[in-house]
Amino acid sequence: MQKKIDDLNKRLEEARLGGGQKRIDKQHQQKKLTARERVTYLLDPGSFEEMGILVTHRTTDFGMADQLYYGDGVVTGYGTIEGRLVYVFAQDFTVFGGSLSETHAEKICKLMDLAVKAGAPVIGLNDSGGARIQEGVRSLGGYADIFYRNVQASGVVPQLSAIMGPCAGGAVYSPAMTDFILMVEQTSYMFVTGPNVVKTVTNEEVSSEDLGGASTHASKSGVAHRTAPNDAACIKDLRTLLSYIPQNNREKAPSRPYVLGDEWRDELMGIVPDNPNQPYDMKQVIEGIIDQEEFFEIHKDYAENMITGFARLAGRSIGIIANQPLALAGVLDSDSSRKAARFTRFCDCFNIPLLVLVDVPGFLPGTDQEWNGIIMHGAKLLYALSEATVPRITLITRKAYGGAYDVMNSKHIGADLNFAWPSAEIAVMGAKGASEIIFRKEIGEANDPVAKLAEKEAEYAATFANPYRAARRGFIDEVILPRETRRKLIRGFASLEHKEVPLPKRKHGNIPL
Ligand code: HXC
Repeated sequence: MQKKIDDLNKRLEEARLGGGQKRIDKQHQQKKLTARERVTYLLDPGSFEEMGILVTHRTTDFGMADQLYYGDGVVTGYGTIEGRLVYVFAQDFTVFGGSLSETHAEKICKLMDLAVKAGAPVIGLNDSGGARIQEGVRSLGGYADIFYRNVQASGVVPQLSAIMGPCAGGAVYSPAMTDFILMVEQTSYMFVTGPNVVKTVTNEEVSSEDLGGASTHASKSGVAHRTAPNDAACIKDLRTLLSYIPQNNREKAPSRPYVLGDEWRDELMGIVPDNPNQPYDMKQVIEGIIDQEEFFEIHKDYAENMITGFARLAGRSIGIIANQPLALAGVLDSDSSRKAARFTRFCDCFNIPLLVLVDVPGFLPGTDQEWNGIIMHGAKLLYALSEATVPRITLITRKAYGGAYDVMNSKHIGADLNFAWPSAEIAVMGAKGASEIIFRKEIGEANDPVAKLAEKEAEYAATFANPYRAARRGFIDEVILPRETRRKLIRGFASLEHKEVPLPKRKHGNIPL
């Protein structure tokens, strides 16, 4: 027996070395952790149970029969994060550059199947040269097997992707179909075709970092939801993100113990300026409302006129969508609509209640917006919120103008509770624009058109630049003081704890993609 035990230990020792010490050193020189180190940092100490450590590929072409590495370039298994079960795969760049073979794909698929059956999140740590070139179509088939499972698992268990090295070609589409993509700055990149192909086809010269690095995807394309300066920080982000998310679509959003106390927040009283055209930072409003810990922002550097992210309110995790008056006056445009729509759908899939903070002057005008489909993209947000059945509460802090009033979680599209601060202005448009249209003739005929416009503007503002018309109609449930907002929201969400909405019988809706 001892001999056999020694033999097993030898195999396991070899497996844990992946592609060997030299390649591990190279990985470290590039400021990257190895797959096993990443898994160790990610999971609670000692909780990892590895599966498939002795798997090897089955390729014989190109001398591959002599190049066998245990694990075949991916570490797979399960463990816990803050005591909660997760399934994880980490591609091992030291073995054939983490490239995906048929067997490598089989390991990932097995893991995903188990995660769905067990009702636990899947976390993928990606670091790979793409399809295993020596395997050809078997590798492509392996990718497609994973893609298919990404879709089947979507909305059933959360799927999180960290990009911690190369992720190129069709390989990008597995992370792209997961719920969140986190990228490590400087050491990771994602693109469908790399700089060489780009140069050949379009004659553009671009570096990998500029084409598909973390900051590009966090700010320009919106492909990345968050970035981190190094592997350890990215892994910490994954752990934090999971703390807001339930294990699967049958569970409620996580809740931490919280004892209600003095929930008044005087600091909320002075945030909205008297001048309606003066910007202010909506993040201050968010900070004044949520529990005293950091707001976990999603897509921080993308479409900054819309804020999305997770927080806890009296211990219960919530998703927040908010217009940001500091950027483009908080206007709705194509990117911000898509950003908020995607976030809404994630929260709705996984039973995370939504708080929508509104200060929106309308949709952004212009050929750029119209030609790029603001009609379709704006509709995404309208559709996503209209179909969301999670508890939904709205707070209008200032402007709620035009179609954007409807879109931003109005009562009419199914919001459960709608609050407004006394500073709210709910109207078809701003007083100046409105007066110029409806009193055009009167202003034109006046001896002093400027004074007439000012008079009419004041008249329109007095009529509509407040929340009371909407409150009279019941479109606003209550006009509240900023200082009592947190208490109102805590009570509101508590009242909706057992909300249920029967859904119409249909295969699925047809969101304008
Ligand atoms: C097999 C691969 C590999 C691959 C890298 N390696 N990529 N082996 N298949 N796709 C191996 C290398 O031979 C090398 O082996 C080791 O991994 C490390 O690679 P290096 O090139 O030394 O590393 P580095 O200089 O850091 O460059 C990393 C890289 C480069 C940029 C990823 O390796 C590269 O360009 N690889 C090919 C990328 C690619 O074209 N993949 C296919 C894309 S198409 P040794 O033995 O020296 O350590 C695709 C389609 C997917 O993925 C479609 C899905 C639908």
